[in-house]
Amino acid sequence: MDHKKTIFSGMRPTGKMHIGHYLGALRNWVRLQNEYHCIFGVVDWHALTTSFENTDGLEQNIIDMVLDWLSVGIDPEQCTMMIQSQVPEHAELHLLFSMITPVGWVERNPVLKQQLQDMGLKEVVGYGHLGYPVLMAADILIYKAIRVPVGEDQVPHIEITREIARRFNYLYDKVFPEPEALLTETPRILGVDGRKMSKSLDNTIGLSEPRDKVKKKIMGMFTDPEKIRKNDPGHPERCNVYTFHGVAGNPRVKEIEADCRSGVLGCVECKKELTTFMIQYLDSITPFREQYQGKEELAREILYEGSRKARQLAESTLGEARTAMKLTYQL
Ligand code: AMP
Ligand code: TRP
Repeated sequence: MDHKKTIFSGMRPTGKMHIGHYLGALRNWVRLQNEYHCIFGVVDWHALTTSFENTDGLEQNIIDMVLDWLSVGIDPEQCTMMIQSQVPEHAELHLLFSMITPVGWVERNPVLKQQLQDMGLKEVVGYGHLGYPVLMAADILIYKAIRVPVGEDQVPHIEITREIARRFNYLYDKVFPEPEALLTETPRILGVDGRKMSKSLDNTIGLSEPRDKVKKKIMGMFTDPEKIRKNDPGHPERCNVYTFHGVAGNPRVKEIEADCRSGVLGCVECKKELTTFMIQYLDSITPFREQYQGKEELAREILYEGSRKARQLAESTLGEARTAMKLTYQL
């Protein structure tokens, strides 16, 4: 483990995972676990930045999320899965970083602007929400991670992390690496309604979703609005059903494109075919689904042990940060 470089990524505990999570981030997590020392965090404090009022479902969401991580093949023998709030060193490093972060960096943050737009809000929810990327920088840098596998929407956040690392190293001492975002070939997946796939928009296809529900969602998808009758010529480039054929690995994707354009293939037929492939695809990307189904206790143990390990690493880096800032006096 010592000779391997470290990777960190995290997800807010929003519950069950969808194919956007998988295609944008999780599949890179699976790929990277042999090559790197991977730490994957349940960032529960980040979940509070926008929804702090009702925290009832948080614990169950953590378990559901981690069971889905395990189902796609995140291997607890190879990587560390931890809970942010169980490693309070993240909070102290966040505080130190908040001192050196100019307000403009967080105010200009494009992710925040997009989020406000998506949530229909005029201004940031609170102080913690504004500091979202500063906490994220602490999550990553406390493990000195050099890469951060995430979806495209997170790239500006990683840029702020790099800037904070650079500024800390310049002001005090060279403690932190400047980590890079690592994207998949599909860094942004759209949902069944054509907007970004997201739990809050209720447009997801879940990894462990009952297959009859998957069918229902696909059959209800919008297609090219100009293809009204079955034999009208369609425009696959404007149709998310077509994109999903590619995502689900349908080998007939080229024929589908041609048949849609010529009008031979109707949308209902096309969606039926997609349903078959999507269900096969979901089964193929969750090879451990049955093995971990309902294993809530196991998930808890994995997180407990992972958080304990992560804490040791985090303590060590925090010590270096305190030393660099000359905060080691004992009075
Ligand atoms: P979130 O649920 O927003 O905390 O996202 C967790 C991770 O999944 C982040 O790395 C996101 O960038 C990624 N992600 C979430 N939704 C999508 C999507 N629709 N397409 C691609 N990546 C996504
Ligand atoms: N902001 C990320 C998201 O919404 C979650 C996150 C928090 C994260 N801390 C992180 C991702 C550190 C990668 C690294 O998906």
